Amino acid sequence: MAANDLFKSGLSGVFRIVHISDLHFWHLPGNPLVWRGKRLLGLANLLLRRARKFRLEAAPQLVEEIHKDQPDHLVVSGDISTTSLNLEFQAFRQMFSDWLESSGKITLVAGNHDRYTRRVMREKLFEKTFSDILDPDSGSRIRLIQPGLGLATFDPCVPRPISARGFVDPFQLRLLEESIRSCDWSSLRALLFVCHYPAEVPLQHADHQKGHGLVGAEGILKVLQGVPVPICWLHGHIHHPWRFFSPSIPNLTYYNPGSPLLRRSQGISLGRWVLDWDGQRIHSEWRSLPAASAWFEASKE
Ligand SMILES: [Fe+2]
Repeated sequence: MAANDLFKSGLSGVFRIVHISDLHFWHLPGNPLVWRGKRLLGLANLLLRRARKFRLEAAPQLVEEIHKDQPDHLVVSGDISTTSLNLEFQAFRQMFSDWLESSGKITLVAGNHDRYTRRVMREKLFEKTFSDILDPDSGSRIRLIQPGLGLATFDPCVPRPISARGFVDPFQLRLLEESIRSCDWSSLRALLFVCHYPAEVPLQHADHQKGHGLVGAEGILKVLQGVPVPICWLHGHIHHPWRFFSPSIPNLTYYNPGSPLLRRSQGISLGRWVLDWDGQRIHSEWRSLPAASAWFEASKE
């Protein structure tokens, strides 16, 4: 099937992408065997803090808002779960079934919470749960999702005993480099790069990078310097929404929707980025509940 036959746009002439991240579905298991290792820390944290902050009862409203956005494609940039429990993955599946059950309507990448333990990684629980929608070759090629619009994914999520750092695997980086080198850029006008972690963050959040940063991020930046079209890096991981213009690569912009179900003093945001592709360029718009519309922007578009 040709790429331009894959989707029927709800808005004439515009291909709409909605980007969300860090939903953090959570579940407190009754089985004591699950409460061990790193998961013991995560579940204790859940009991003490996260269960109060991540309001899962708002998930149906988020889905309703996304439906109203009329997206042609949904991007979910990781951390759908909290401790990589199957029940958390299944809760996401159930809530987003409209996109998961239609071919080619969603791009999903793992977050560090979706690879919470070594066992989860070894047994490929995330990959098995979403085998029907994950493209095993997505890390090694740029997929055309619309004429002129390419999409690449990168997965640096690894389980760590304490920190939440990601790791750029050299082999995966070589695949990315090769896919960029071999891409026919004359047919592309923009690239969506979907990765749970950002390579750079606004100065105000620099402290956050100490325990949450991406080890080897400079390697990705070096490779992306070879991309001759605008790049939208769609990520999450840090629960503060922003649009941030890369200080090191002029044609690179980071989009972070924050965490839409996280309750702050203003309430929950149901925040998401709406990216409209008109065939030539991407127009971005931040959408959230009015009471939580405050968001951080490092610089103007
Ligand atoms: Fe994360």
